[in-house]
Amino acid sequence: MATEKRIDPWASVDVENYKALMQDFGIEPFSKFREKFKANRYVRRDIIFGHRDFDRIHNSITKKKPWAMMTGLMPSGKFHFGHKMLADIIIWLQQLGGQIYVCSADIEAWLMRDITLEEGYRTAVDEYLTNYVALGLDLKKDFTFWFQSNYTTEYYRLRDMISKRVTFNELKAIYGELSPGKITSVLTQAADILHPQLPSHNGKKPVVVPVGVDQDPHLRLTRDIASRLDAVRENSTRDFPCIPPSSTYHKFMRGLQGGKMSSSRENSYIALTESSETARKKVMNAKTGGRATAEEQKKLGGQPEACTVYDFFVYHLIDDNKELMNIYKDCTSGNRRCGDCKKFCADLIEKFLVGHQKKYKKAKTEVEKFIAKV
Ligand code: TRP
Ligand code: SF4
Repeated sequence: MATEKRIDPWASVDVENYKALMQDFGIEPFSKFREKFKANRYVRRDIIFGHRDFDRIHNSITKKKPWAMMTGLMPSGKFHFGHKMLADIIIWLQQLGGQIYVCSADIEAWLMRDITLEEGYRTAVDEYLTNYVALGLDLKKDFTFWFQSNYTTEYYRLRDMISKRVTFNELKAIYGELSPGKITSVLTQAADILHPQLPSHNGKKPVVVPVGVDQDPHLRLTRDIASRLDAVRENSTRDFPCIPPSSTYHKFMRGLQGGKMSSSRENSYIALTESSETARKKVMNAKTGGRATAEEQKKLGGQPEACTVYDFFVYHLIDDNKELMNIYKDCTSGNRRCGDCKKFCADLIEKFLVGHQKKYKKAKTEVEKFIAKV
């Protein structure tokens, strides 16, 4: 067992080799859908790099049949540019015609990260939902939202139903060390993912869950559970027909200091509600792919691959591929100076933040109204 490869969804995974990981866990490359969905920046740039069963979603889109997207947000910390990527993906899938299901993982946050339900509530509403809406999510278009802690929904029966269809050894094989809190989080997440297929939500349909690979263990487990729930059993009225969930896998932006971008490390991220001054400072102090001296930079060129400022261009700031290519060439040929480049980046971020924060203010009232009914 010890030699078996495992992903721990509660540890910080720093993936260096996406290819090897795909091979180990049977994730397919997303490239075959690239042409069709290249209007999306994350697809175009291979940031969404893998999938399981996305063909089902692709088919539904093509045939205009119902399908859904489901994801859970972890209500902790500030909503930053790392989270913006997933928000953009959710909005993109909504625009492609998917029904959108989002839950606040407040039970998981409480069990695994010691965040109270009240804190979780405010973070989910003020940081996540409001920023989603400011970024373009349409609350009025097939959007379902719930808190894991909302015991009035039938989805709790689903969680109980799931606990009957999974064995302890199976959980151990996937997650290794277990605790009751982990088990509850895992079963809750499986219920989250299958929720859109409940009979009360118009039943069986393809559902895609866009995630980072750290969440893949939950997907693998839920897929197995789904096929068991779907199996027709005599004398069983409890299970329900459902399709194993599809998933897409995205890469993560690095933090501004290198390493992971994390809401628990102030200088690693820029929040979408951050002031322009702090944002500028963080960019000016960012880890670049520049050389030690201006002379060396001229001679050898910079290294965009190692540059966290460049990550901002790729993920968020420069949509046009040609323009990005020019920055890349400029950098590697030694014509670009990191100081100027950081300033350019800070200007773009400032411009974005000013526009976004206006939209955020507007979104606030709409979100408060919406959430009062959840
Ligand atoms: N475990 C996820 C995280 O840590 C949050 C989550 C809860 C989730 N339920 C989900 C993600 C369902 C995807 C689908 O971020
Ligand atoms: Fe990064 Fe720009 Fe410096 Fe190149 S020039 S290493 S892209 S900051």
